[in-house]
Parts: sequence; structure tokens; C-alpha cells
Amino acid sequence: MMNRPAEKLEQRNVDICIVGGLGRVGLPLGISFARAGMNVMLYDIDREAAGVVASGKMPFQDTGAEEALREVLGKRLFLSSEKSCIGASRFVIIVIGTPVDEHLNPRLIAFKQLFSEISEYLRDEQHVILRSTIFPGTTEWLYQYLRSKSRRTRVSFCPERIAEGKAMTELVSLPQIVSSCDADGLQEVSTLFSVLTRDIVVLQPKEAELAKLFTNASRYIQFAISNQFYQIALHHGIDFYRVHEAMVHNYPRISGFAPAGLTAGPCLFKDTMQLAAFSNNTFFLGHSAMLINEGLPNMIVQKLNEKYSLKDKVVGILGMAYKGDSDDARESLSYKLKKILEIEAMTVLCTDPFIGDKDFHALGDVIVRSDVLILGAPHAQYRELPIDHAAKIIVDVWNYWGRGGLF
Ligand SMILES: NC(=O)c1ccc[n+]([C@@H]2O[C@H](COP(=O)([O-])OP(=O)(O)OC[C@H]3O[C@@H](n4cnc5c(N)ncnc54)[C@H](O)[C@@H]3O)[C@@H](O)[C@H]2O)c1
Repeated sequence: MMNRPAEKLEQRNVDICIVGGLGRVGLPLGISFARAGMNVMLYDIDREAAGVVASGKMPFQDTGAEEALREVLGKRLFLSSEKSCIGASRFVIIVIGTPVDEHLNPRLIAFKQLFSEISEYLRDEQHVILRSTIFPGTTEWLYQYLRSKSRRTRVSFCPERIAEGKAMTELVSLPQIVSSCDADGLQEVSTLFSVLTRDIVVLQPKEAELAKLFTNASRYIQFAISNQFYQIALHHGIDFYRVHEAMVHNYPRISGFAPAGLTAGPCLFKDTMQLAAFSNNTFFLGHSAMLINEGLPNMIVQKLNEKYSLKDKVVGILGMAYKGDSDDARESLSYKLKKILEIEAMTVLCTDPFIGDKDFHALGDVIVRSDVLILGAPHAQYRELPIDHAAKIIVDVWNYWGRGGLF
């Protein structure tokens, strides 16, 4: 139901309009609310994604989402690319992207622009729920902004906490953190999210904003610890994974110790930087984690070069997504590796089963032609590959193939 005028939508009694409803967070959320019996309108400016979703297909991978989409599409789930549709729903959930800019500062302007565009459609009886990961204080800013426009619209912040690709199960199994600018708003969001889960955790808006940033920054730092230890071990010719295995063996105190890996993606890095900006750039742990995680591709290339001289080597990167079994290339460190290797190596060949790119090569071709193979993303289909480990130089930072982390 594209571009239908708002008057007609009003007759449909829409419960929720999701702004950014075709994104990785918005779409699974919309499907989940629709499955829970609510009428949901997905508003998005991405017309290509709208065409895909309108045909009953997911524009990205999310386990179980496509079947669920078909179940509700056209019955309780509708699409629109007209912002006037915002005025027709009781709740308006905002899930547009919140990237950092080239100086690693949050782009608050994107939110300000969005609200200057949509505020004419907001009504006093409506309730705006921010779901994107936001710079602390944004919820309060929005509340004051709407009040300055004489709008009584309620404002809440309920952060999304799913792991990409697992939204359909996690939305109904994880606790939902809810916060609101007033008591009635809190009651309303608690009731709304209790259709997904009974486990509702209440915070003040700024506490909830920080809870989300602290979560992502802690994970980013945890991965950086492993990546730093990996680098120290490698530098001394010691296999990090022999040490790692010994440390975690029957020793629950350190059971959460992550393997090393190319820590990347659209959230952890930028949210750590949002927190750094919020703390006036005194978040030293966060900045150190960024240097370690973002420096890993450079370190890999440097170590390879010291040992094998890459200028006469063909290097293959297996997996360009930011994590295993994902089709999301956003902020993937495989691309950073590719860029560095394009300067240092004779040839770079890339492959990924989930990302369409005319410059990528078939997996078999990359395996046969490469002297060096770097595992960029540990996709399940790479688990058993016909690789002659004795004939190739293999870089497996994750120890996905169980042969250790040395190369
Ligand atoms: N991806 C995740 O796994 C994840 C998990 C938790 C939280 N988050 C947070 O959720 C937010 C959204 O992330 P995402 O991965 O879904 O991003 P995304 O880029 O996949 O989705 C954002 C959507 O918003 C749409 N959009 C942008 N501007 C718009 C506008 N002015 N009007 C209407 N639609 C607009 C885009 O077309 C896109 O479809 C971010 O703040 C992110 O940090 C993401």
C-alpha cells in the first residue's frame, strides 16, 4: 500500500508507524508487532527496499523474518513512502540510522532534520518513541523541541538491543528497557512493549540512553582486550589460542573471554565514539579499544609483509561482511584489509556468498589462485573448505579452523 494518503490510513486505525521501518531494526520490529496483533505502518525513504518488501521478500538476512513478513504483509503490516502517514498512528517509533561523522562525532543534525520535516504531522495525542541508539540527552531535546512547537506529543526512549540477524527471536526473548519523559508515557510504552515480552525494565531516559551506549562500548572493549592479547602473543611468536584455551578451561571466572577477531560493524565502533564524545573525549578505554580493533588489519598486513613479502603474492579475503553469516558490509574491516592490501600485495581477490559485487570472485577461484588466504568473516559455509593448509599461508584471527592464530 504505497503512497496512500493519510486520510485513508486514518480509517485503518494504525497502532504504530515506524520511521525507518525498512531498516535492519525497523523491519523486524514492525513484523514482530504485527505478529503480536498490532496494525503497523512502515514509513521509509528507501524505495528500492520498499519494492522488495512489498513482494514479500526481506531486503537483508534475518533468521525467520521472511516467513513472518509474508504472514502479516497487507493484513496488519503496511508500507508507505509518504511522511504524512506518520499522522495516522497512535505510536511513532523512530529507528533511522545514527552514524558518527568524519570527526567521529555523532551526527545530531540527522535527528533535528527529521523532526523539522515530520513535526507538522505529529499530533498531541500521539506518542513518539525513539528506538535508534542516540547521543545522551536526545530524548530530552526532542521533548523540549516539541513543547517549543506547542505540541503535547509524548516522548519516550526504548533502545533496540537485538543482535543483527537474530531479531525475530531476540525481540520476544530479551528484556525491553523502557523510559519516558512522563509517567503516563511510561505506562504507555510499558504496555506497548509487553506485547513482545513480559520482562520490562524501567529507567529514566538519560539512564536508558547510557545503558545502550555502555552495552555496546563494553562489548567493543571486551573484543579489544582479546585483539590486543592476540597481537602481543603473535608479536612474540606465541599462539594466542593455546593460551586462550588453557585460560578458559574449567575456569568460569574468565568464561566470557572472547576469541580475537575483526571487530567491526555498524554499531559497536560508532557507539563507543558517541560515548567518547559524550564524555568530552576523556573515554580513554574507548579510544584505546578503537585503536586496537581498527589497527588489527594494519597489523595483519605488517606481520605478513615482514615474513613473506606481499608484493609478489596473491591475497584472497574470504568473507567481506562484518561478521559471520551476515550480509551486512557496513564498516566491515575486510574492506579496510582490502584497501591496505591493494597497496602492499600483488593482487587482492575478494569473495562473499551474501554480498553481491561485480568485482568479487567465486570462492573456488579465490582459494585456488591465492598464495595467502585471510578469513575476513567466519561464514558457516567456510567451516569445511578444500584448502591445502600446507601449501597456503592462512590467516585465521578467529581460530575458526581450529589450527591456531599464528601465520
Ligand atoms: N543493526 C542493528 O543490529 C542494530 C541493533 C541495535 C540498535 N541499532 C540502532 O538502530 C538504529 C538503526 O540502525 P539500522 O541498522 O536499522 O539502520 P538501517 O540503515 O538499516 O535502517 C535505517 C532506515 O531508516 C531509513 N531512513 C533514513 N532516514 C530516513 C528518513 N528521514 N525518513 C524515513 N526513513 C529514513 C533508511 O532508509 C533505512 O531503511 C541505529 O541507531 C543503530 O545504531 C541497530
